Amino acid sequence: MNVLITGGAGFLGSHLGDWFLQRGHTVYALDIASDAKIRHNLENTRFHFIPDSFLNVDILENLVAKCELIYHLGAVVGVEHYVSDPYKVLNVNVNGIQNILRLAHRYDRKVVFSSTSEVYGRNPKVPWKEDDDRVLGSTRIDRWCYSTSKAVGEHFCLAYKKMGLRTVILRYFNVYGPRLDAVDKGRVVTIFLGQLLRGQPITVVGNGSQTRSFTYSEDAIEATAQAGLRKEADGEIFNIGTDVETSMLELANVMRDVFGGPAKIEFVPQQKIYGNSYEDIQRRVPDVTRMKTILGVTPKVGLREGLRRTIEWFKESEGWIEPKPAKKAAAKKPMVKKAPFASTKKAKV
Ligand SMILES: NC(=O)c1ccc[n+]([C@@H]2O[C@H](COP(=O)([O-])OP(=O)(O)OC[C@H]3O[C@@H](n4cnc5c(N)ncnc54)[C@H](O)[C@@H]3O)[C@@H](O)[C@H]2O)c1
Repeated sequence: MNVLITGGAGFLGSHLGDWFLQRGHTVYALDIASDAKIRHNLENTRFHFIPDSFLNVDILENLVAKCELIYHLGAVVGVEHYVSDPYKVLNVNVNGIQNILRLAHRYDRKVVFSSTSEVYGRNPKVPWKEDDDRVLGSTRIDRWCYSTSKAVGEHFCLAYKKMGLRTVILRYFNVYGPRLDAVDKGRVVTIFLGQLLRGQPITVVGNGSQTRSFTYSEDAIEATAQAGLRKEADGEIFNIGTDVETSMLELANVMRDVFGGPAKIEFVPQQKIYGNSYEDIQRRVPDVTRMKTILGVTPKVGLREGLRRTIEWFKESEGWIEPKPAKKAAAKKPMVKKAPFASTKKAKV
């Protein structure tokens, strides 16, 4: 089968591509990112990297016409974008899913759409079931633009479902693993990791009591693949994650433990990091019954083991970016390592 993965050179997209390639399928990865996370597949004749945008409708139509199954994972992701460039988040995410659905409808292709736990906003009633309420703050708080952009995408999927299209919506809960992001960027695991690798204190935002449900990539990818392959998933919405709740402080402690070493933990006020256009979510826990029963996936990799594998991968692949030297200290102290995002060696998954 031919599988189209938008965002196929991203974190989840690269792992999903591996999953389908390992099972004999042909993968078309459409992405504007570099090939750093998919370099290990570039020689594979069943892998095609198209370095372009899903906003380019001609390229997209060509791909949709030849692929039976479409995963729309491409999006503008990351808190730094939500607060610094909300226009881009809304424009790319909302127009992207419309392009995909319009063409999928024309060619009758099944679409799996990557949504997010962020759609529940700060609904205090956890664990969240798929049909629970969305509780969001004011539109003046930029951070909600991502949640809204994905919720609009979900509405479009459900609207197309009414017009006969096969769609599946997946709401991911803090997936982490090898190839997540460059360290210091994007998500909490890679931010803590950058600090650990440089021997700096781990900075926990707020008082560290906020909770998340950390999902190892292998488990999330299995569920994602099944959502595309199983007929029973058509028309459904799934939480993809684990119901184990972990506070940021616990995460910092476990990461320090697994990494080894004496790193201190420091608390930083949220405003100092994100400014005033951010609001944190206190608890984020999914009900994953539907994922288990319909997709047949029960998460297997616990936090400590997942972090051990992730940290090992980052250390081995030198997958971290050299810090910008502080003006004076830099001259005396050479950088420990120099490395691009990922090594050319095969990623361990
Ligand atoms: N990883 C998680 O924990 C998580 C949680 C919630 C939702 N999601 C969703 O899952 C999807 C994949 O996330 P990820 O963690 O792999 O993030 P990622 O940032 O690694 O992947 C997204 C990819 O989309 C690509 N992209 C952006 N604009 C594009 C465009 N116009 N055309 C083509 N490609 C474009 C980016 O270059 C990137 O490679 C995203 O839609 C994200 O919103 C992920």
